[in-house]
Amino acid sequence: MQVRLSVKRFNPEADRTPRWQEYAVDLPEHATVLDALLEARDLQDETLALRCSCRSHICGSCAMRINGRSGLACKTKVEEARRRLPDGAAIRVEPAGNMPVVKDLIVDLNGFFGKVQAIQPYLQPTGPEPEREYIVPNEAMLTVREAMACILCGACMSACNVLEVDDRFLGPAPLAKAWRFTEDPRDGKDHDRLEMLSAPGGIWDCTHCFQCVEVCPKDVKPMERILELRRRAMEAGFTDNNGSRHSQAFVETIAASGRLDETRVAMRSLHGFDEMLEWAGVGAKSLLRGKVPLRHKPIPGALRVKEIFRATAPASPRRVAPAAGGGHGGTGHGA
Ligand code: SF4
Ligand code: SF4
Ligand code: FES
Repeated sequence: MQVRLSVKRFNPEADRTPRWQEYAVDLPEHATVLDALLEARDLQDETLALRCSCRSHICGSCAMRINGRSGLACKTKVEEARRRLPDGAAIRVEPAGNMPVVKDLIVDLNGFFGKVQAIQPYLQPTGPEPEREYIVPNEAMLTVREAMACILCGACMSACNVLEVDDRFLGPAPLAKAWRFTEDPRDGKDHDRLEMLSAPGGIWDCTHCFQCVEVCPKDVKPMERILELRRRAMEAGFTDNNGSRHSQAFVETIAASGRLDETRVAMRSLHGFDEMLEWAGVGAKSLLRGKVPLRHKPIPGALRVKEIFRATAPASPRRVAPAAGGGHGGTGHGA
């Protein structure tokens, strides 16, 4: 079959701006996007730069954006990529997002691996030296098995909406890896890890956009790991931060009125006069643009939500798990 590719080319050492280049290749029906790129490079243009190795979705080196969606080129069939396009349109291939381009489809992974290093991705046992080999019960490892499947491809980092605007965020894959170590019974540094992850740039900066869950080729579900880390951090007492306050206020306003009160949640997420002052301008702008209703329109049935909440939530709303809307991202760093 004939396949058309449109590849984003850029060499920071020679080009001022990126350009799109088209290739037409002939491939068997079962070919992948990586097969198409290799065919184009090997037979038509040896200057096309891309990274790959296993061609079997194991090594994690061929993450890129295909028709705007992050994923592994060796796991994406040409047929599948074409299905989402108008007839005859070229498959658009770009480098992975949120990372600097080295050349064409090759990105600099140093920032990503630096963040993985930052979460201390190794076991740190505490207590006396074990007398013999530490055999972990199978059940304990079942919990972390999904997160251990990560191949560090960076597709989730490429798709993350927060990393698009804030490079300080640790990001989905490093946080999923952090979760793997807090869950491992051989690790003794849970408390320190949870404290570190509760700081700005950590677990409370995720906006629950689901992108990392959608694109991960190994079903690691980073966002779910982040939510679990939040629950554990709050249980461990790390509640003096905007994200945790936001999460608690979110739950408490629903418990009190059966509905979400964004203004109150925003106010309660902030800490102290200085933070209030810092966000006063944003509050005033939101008010002027009608984004902060002073009075909410009544919602039929809201009180029933309150009843349902009372019937299902633990006695104290402060002890419930982080709300789905909680976190810095839910209100733009708590405002
Ligand atoms: S769910 Fe959170 S970590 Fe995952 S892509 Fe969205 S913002 Fe990033
Ligand atoms: S979590 Fe998934 S998408 Fe992210 S680096 Fe690991 S395998 Fe790749
Ligand atoms: S070439 Fe190894 S994951 Fe694609």
